[in-house]
Amino acid sequence: MGANPQVYSLDDDASEVLRGLTSRPKQLPPKLFYDAAGSILFELITEQPEYYLTSTEQSIFERYAAEMVCAAGNSANIIELGAGSAKKTMLILRAAANIHSPITFTPIDVSSFALELAHQRVRSELPEVVVAPLVLDYTRHAPSLAQTPGQRLVLYIGSSIGNFEPMAASGVLRHLRSSLKPGDALLLGTDMRKPSNILLPAYDDQAGVTARFNLNILARLNRELEANFDLERFVHRAIWNKRDSRIEMHLESIGSQRVRIRSLDTTIDFAPGETIHTENSYKFSPAMIEALALNSGFALEQNWSDERGWFTVTLLRA
Ligand code: AVJ
Repeated sequence: MGANPQVYSLDDDASEVLRGLTSRPKQLPPKLFYDAAGSILFELITEQPEYYLTSTEQSIFERYAAEMVCAAGNSANIIELGAGSAKKTMLILRAAANIHSPITFTPIDVSSFALELAHQRVRSELPEVVVAPLVLDYTRHAPSLAQTPGQRLVLYIGSSIGNFEPMAASGVLRHLRSSLKPGDALLLGTDMRKPSNILLPAYDDQAGVTARFNLNILARLNRELEANFDLERFVHRAIWNKRDSRIEMHLESIGSQRVRIRSLDTTIDFAPGETIHTENSYKFSPAMIEALALNSGFALEQNWSDERGWFTVTLLRA
């Protein structure tokens, strides 16, 4: 590792940035959103009234966390993929700590900043839980969980799986399953299909936080790859792609422009209205969840939803 892990991690992804911006349509991987600024902006998104995902999943955990932990079995090792600040996770950890102790918690995230928030939260709210954070891009590397004895409960919540196209999503879960033992459990959170008048505002809030979150990816390329994106000349777009059952986020170029990315020794040209596709956020049907389980080798056991049926948490068994 270099002296500056933040820069090092983007250098590691630099080829992905180059490939994404030179392909047609242009695209960038959503994991690039989550530098320190982006992680704070994401936390702010979860507090916007239009962004129902976090509060809805939270309400499911508030109601069913104890039931979920019981159904999962004897899970003293709790692992969270894409942990973020781990706010919702506290409900599961608390329920688990009531049943067995000691509990170890391994939050895994690409953002060391988010992991530090998670660590602090658990340390202050549940000091009896042992926290072992892991900075890792689980989309590239299988978490090596082999050393932890006992049954595991993996949390993959917040509909983070929704960032992946169906085939890739199955791949991520298959990969995860290969590092688990038979009997280990997975709690998977998925945002469900719903009318576009609910979906679109969640990805284009009044206060403009999602727009700032999306544009931060360009600010990050400016900072870390010495690019010169003019943030005033790109606009945030959220689209409901009904056929593919996903919300897409794009950054649309106002007018034609040329951007220089010094660290990649390249220039990128934009036509008026051309977009960079920065994120897919799939919205699930029960059939899509079943297909995901089937294609990744997990067995479907049980699921919990809110009253409106907007969000589902599914228990899967390795
Ligand atoms: C963290 C991937 C679940 O897709 O809703 C929030 C990220 N993007 N607003 C989502 C996000 C725009 C979020 N996930």
